[in-house]
Amino acid sequence: MLLLLPLLFKGLLGHGTSTVDPQVPGPHHLAAEESPSFRMIQISSFANHSWTHTQGSGWVGDLQTHGWDSVLATIRFLRPWSQGNFSKEELKNIQALLQLYFHSFPREVQAYASQFQFEYPFELQVSFGCLIHTGKALETFLNGAYQGLDFLSFQENSWKPSPGAGSRAENVCKVLNHYRIIKEVVQRLLSDTCPRFLAGILKAGKSELERQVKPQAWVSKGPSPGPGRLLLVCHVSGFHPKPIWVMWMRGKQKHPGSRRGDVLPNADGTWYLRVTLDVSAGEAAGLSCRVKHSSLGGQDIIIHWGGYSFFSILICLIVIVTLVMLVIVDSSFKKQSSNQDVFSISHPAFPTEAKTKDPRNLGHQLCLAQESWIKNRLLKWKARLSQL
Ligand SMILES: *[C@@H]1O[C@H](CO)[C@@H](O)[C@H](O)[C@H]1NC(C)=O
Ligand SMILES: *[C@@H]1O[C@H](CO)[C@@H](O)[C@H](O)[C@H]1NC(C)=O
Repeated sequence: MLLLLPLLFKGLLGHGTSTVDPQVPGPHHLAAEESPSFRMIQISSFANHSWTHTQGSGWVGDLQTHGWDSVLATIRFLRPWSQGNFSKEELKNIQALLQLYFHSFPREVQAYASQFQFEYPFELQVSFGCLIHTGKALETFLNGAYQGLDFLSFQENSWKPSPGAGSRAENVCKVLNHYRIIKEVVQRLLSDTCPRFLAGILKAGKSELERQVKPQAWVSKGPSPGPGRLLLVCHVSGFHPKPIWVMWMRGKQKHPGSRRGDVLPNADGTWYLRVTLDVSAGEAAGLSCRVKHSSLGGQDIIIHWGGYSFFSILICLIVIVTLVMLVIVDSSFKKQSSNQDVFSISHPAFPTEAKTKDPRNLGHQLCLAQESWIKNRLLKWKARLSQL
């Protein structure tokens, strides 16, 4: 029986990644809630006949919930609720199965590499899991890829080569289909273990999985696409869940030139997206970026393209000058605090060069006004302190 098991897992050889890409709501409305899914992803690299490396991970939708520690050969539970409602016992059994699998898989692949005409270096990917559609219909999948291309899948209790994967995939499937026990184990994991685990983990992780976090949005100018042209960039970040609608608009019209990037993960489990628009410089005025997201309760975010207005330059200057002043005042304050006569100091630390810049510039004058206001406040504050 023990001898059978490694053979059994040879069966899982070369199952490819699924191409399911959960996300991207249609451009006209927010996507209906995605069907919840659980998947295991395996990536195995084979550099030569003696070097191989395998990574395993578990995902609920787009959120990684499990890792595989290949040194300790244990499951890493990445969330407090990653065990779902499975007992310690059942998790231990699953871990033992995975240990066997991750141990045997590379060896079996190496052993059969020449028979299957795998050419070094190569990469095998497996995506294995289940999703529950609305109405509780269960869909299971096991896909394998070779060198990043669909290779085979497990359907209706047998291994099928992917269209276009050629005779190599046919060969592998033919061999795999001889192992009835492997097929039975795979079938059980897919149709029983996976949906039970998914149902339990969805309940346990409900508050995190279903949390609503509002996006922040801002616009900026990207690298110029050419003479007289502007690249407008609308950034939207920090939102959860993933489905989101973002468009450049002129009034109420969607701008057909809007280009949507990929939705990228932030480190805190929220998402980031940028949508760009290449326009001639004259066209930019009056454009806005509009964001719809489930967390916003129908109150879309609208950011108008301002270009660089006088106002934004002014704010920039104020911020910079304020920071500079704080640093200077802080250092002069330190100097003065060792000096008893606080009031007689005439602030030599304030740079006079700043005042020699073009004084006709209104923004500059405002910055100066800001500077002297801050100076005054700090002096008053210091005076009060010394009275205490
Ligand atoms: C196999 O590949 C690894 C990783 O690229 C390399 O370090 C090692 O020298 C290779 N061994 C042989 C026998 O080619
Ligand atoms: C876990 O929860 C699911 C759904 O609520 C249920 O079907 C299952 O029996 C529970 N327990 C185990 C050990 O799977």
